[in-house]
Amino acid sequence: MIRIAVLGAGRIGKIHAHNVAACPDAKLVVVADPFAEAASSLAAKLGCEATTDCDAAIARNDVDAIVIGTPTDTHIKFMLQAVEQGKAVLCEKPIDLDMGRSIAAAREVERLNGRVMLAFNRRFDPTSQAFRKAIDAGEVGEIRQVVISSRDPGMPPRDYVLHSGGIFRDMVIHDLDLARWLLGEEPVEVMAMGSRLVDRTLEDVADYDTVMVQLKTASGKQCHINCCREAVYGYDQRFEVFGAKGMLLQDNLRASTIRRWSATTTDAREPLLNFFLERYVEAYKNELEAFVAAVAANAPMPTTVNDGLQALRLADCALESVRTGQVVKV
Ligand SMILES: NC(=O)c1ccc[n+]([C@@H]2O[C@H](COP(=O)([O-])OP(=O)(O)OC[C@H]3O[C@@H](n4cnc5c(N)ncnc54)[C@H](O)[C@@H]3O)[C@@H](O)[C@H]2O)c1
Repeated sequence: MIRIAVLGAGRIGKIHAHNVAACPDAKLVVVADPFAEAASSLAAKLGCEATTDCDAAIARNDVDAIVIGTPTDTHIKFMLQAVEQGKAVLCEKPIDLDMGRSIAAAREVERLNGRVMLAFNRRFDPTSQAFRKAIDAGEVGEIRQVVISSRDPGMPPRDYVLHSGGIFRDMVIHDLDLARWLLGEEPVEVMAMGSRLVDRTLEDVADYDTVMVQLKTASGKQCHINCCREAVYGYDQRFEVFGAKGMLLQDNLRASTIRRWSATTTDAREPLLNFFLERYVEAYKNELEAFVAAVAANAPMPTTVNDGLQALRLADCALESVRTGQVVKV
């Protein structure tokens, strides 16, 4: 039984806390959040303790592992504190918004033999896992191209945008990780375009809402990522892997597979599962279970701090490419 403290009782913290509480091999000991009401209401629902003191939650003798779901600028502090105290960590993405600080943190984790998993939930989606199996079994042959479309249902609030680190480090980072994982090779070249087609005032904060990224690996494998902060039809999450022997295609998910025909419409389908908490519910559950299993078996973490560094590096290269109009070597 892995005894866990969840830090952060916001959007993602709630998901992790529910999944810990539901995991048969884990025990949710405490939820910590400086906002007392957030911590106590979540803890009351899940039958665990609540605290406003994250440091104290990490230090508890009856806690083996820490799940970090707090704002990005707190990740490194809590991660290193936990590792120094010999606790395993599941840390939300990104490690940090700054590459230099992220590299220094990764070195410290390595020096301390820390056990840290980076929360790239999309790898744990049932479809992604099925893709992995099919690719590994040689079903599509040698991969030639990966194409990812990833569009949010609507612009986040201005305050969120200001602290997000920009669309590449906040949103596209998931797609960059998925791309690396599906390609099975590190991209060595990045080319990107950025536009402000939803909110032109993003120019004031040097951010974009509509972007395209192209990646190329050393052996020539390619990836094309489309991202937009607003899709009026909902959370659009599709990808395909094309190879020498065929293609795998992941379409959007809906609440049901019913299709309707009437006098005024044909082939009408349910709306898309809207936003990440609904669309990736299984992925978050599987991610947490994979973390608990790795901690229990003292096995390698399924996603690592290095994965976090690589995705952040690609995000930074994409931003540089947008700014310079040049292909950027990774
Ligand atoms: N993997 C994913 O799909 C995914 C989705 C959403 C968010 N995230 C990541 O999770 C993190 C949290 O995002 P969110 O959307 O849940 O944010 P949120 O604002 O909903 O929740 C953050 C929580 O942290 C608490 N908090 C604020 N300052 C704190 C501090 N100094 N120390 C400890 N707790 C503090 C807040 O009270 C709040 O309850 C971010 O790093 C974000 O990038 C990942």
